[in-house]
Amino acid sequence: MTALTIDDLKVLAKRRVPKMFFDYADSGAYTEGTYRANEEDFGRIKLRQRVLVDMSNRSLESTMIGQKVSMPVALAPTGLTGMQHADGEMLAAQAAEAFGVPFTLSTMSICSIEDVASVTSKPFWFQLYVMQDRDFVLNLIDRAKAAKCSALVLTLDLQILGQRHKDIRNGLSAPPKFTPKHIWQMATRPGWCMKMLGTERRTFRNIVGHAKSVTDLSSLSVWTTEQFDPQLSWKDVAWIKERWGGPLILKGILDPEDARMAADSGADAIIVSNHGGRQLDGAHSSISMLPRIVDAVGDKIEVHLDGGIRSGQDVLKAVALGAKGTYIGRPFLYGLGAMGKLGVTRALEIIRKELDVTMALCGKRDIADVGRDIIADYRD
Ligand SMILES: Cc1cc2nc3c(=O)[nH]c(=O)nc-3n(C[C@H](O)[C@H](O)[C@H](O)COP(=O)(O)O)c2cc1C
Repeated sequence: MTALTIDDLKVLAKRRVPKMFFDYADSGAYTEGTYRANEEDFGRIKLRQRVLVDMSNRSLESTMIGQKVSMPVALAPTGLTGMQHADGEMLAAQAAEAFGVPFTLSTMSICSIEDVASVTSKPFWFQLYVMQDRDFVLNLIDRAKAAKCSALVLTLDLQILGQRHKDIRNGLSAPPKFTPKHIWQMATRPGWCMKMLGTERRTFRNIVGHAKSVTDLSSLSVWTTEQFDPQLSWKDVAWIKERWGGPLILKGILDPEDARMAADSGADAIIVSNHGGRQLDGAHSSISMLPRIVDAVGDKIEVHLDGGIRSGQDVLKAVALGAKGTYIGRPFLYGLGAMGKLGVTRALEIIRKELDVTMALCGKRDIADVGRDIIADYRD
């Protein structure tokens, strides 16, 4: 099957990735209402069709936090990416680098900061979760600096975990457990297994060997549930910013009041995000909150968005409503699960082509000129 859409990649990924890991990507918290709303609300926004305007020489080039991007789309940080496909983070980072878009490595990745740095030549971005073990956090920031990461993405909306029923039912872990159910899920995906046997990267390599008292996996699961710091506050943003010393992006802002505080925090950008519907079930979709947040802080801080983007049309709508940049999570994970590095490239190509054609049909030649005027019947 030739993958023409992100949905095609999802179908392929489902066939190639063991159920527990496919489900880990394709799930949201509790009823999954916010997960669905993220996608559905894009569908409600209508574009204005314009004709007889010059459509030649189009450009999608832009910047995110001052860094050049070939289109305003970055790869979102996603945990356990190396379980969708062996060495997944390294492959996705290479695909993003070749494409000219940022790759963001999660704290909860399988491949480590150093693994990704060893196979890329341009800087990538690093996403930080703040743990109670502050020495570990300081060390992570220093490791990201040493690897020449060019932005730190501080995630604010997962200090306590929203429940995903599928993960509990599937008994998700990394590496997988060897119960009959898990062995069956893997045995029915032989291609995945062969690649996984060919790599030594099968656990959380940013953590194991770096955090005190984490030497094996049984202690790791205890460590993660106990370690995310529920007392994280705006005060912490200051010391993190100071220790990091580079561009800082705050991820997980969904409310204009929080956006105002973020704008005063000294950060360089915010990501309007509800963690892909994986945390507060019942929250608004990211795209529906974007205009209000842009109106509140758009002149003070760069605003980015993630959640529910499944096409170039979605990227265009987010840009039109004021996002300087967007991120894709599941679309690149589906590509990775479907076809490894080639699949991530395919996901980016699909989105780029859709974005380019849709922009032209809206009568625009340069992404920099895209604004609310391309949205039909724009109402707040
Ligand atoms: C499987 C998966 C794992 C994720 N892990 C992380 C993570 O480790 N850190 C983080 O900040 N966000 C994480 N996220 C959230 C993404 O960064 C992003 O906000 C979300 O995927 C965007 O929605 P989309 O998947 O609809 O594009 C994860 C999302 C998914 C789907």
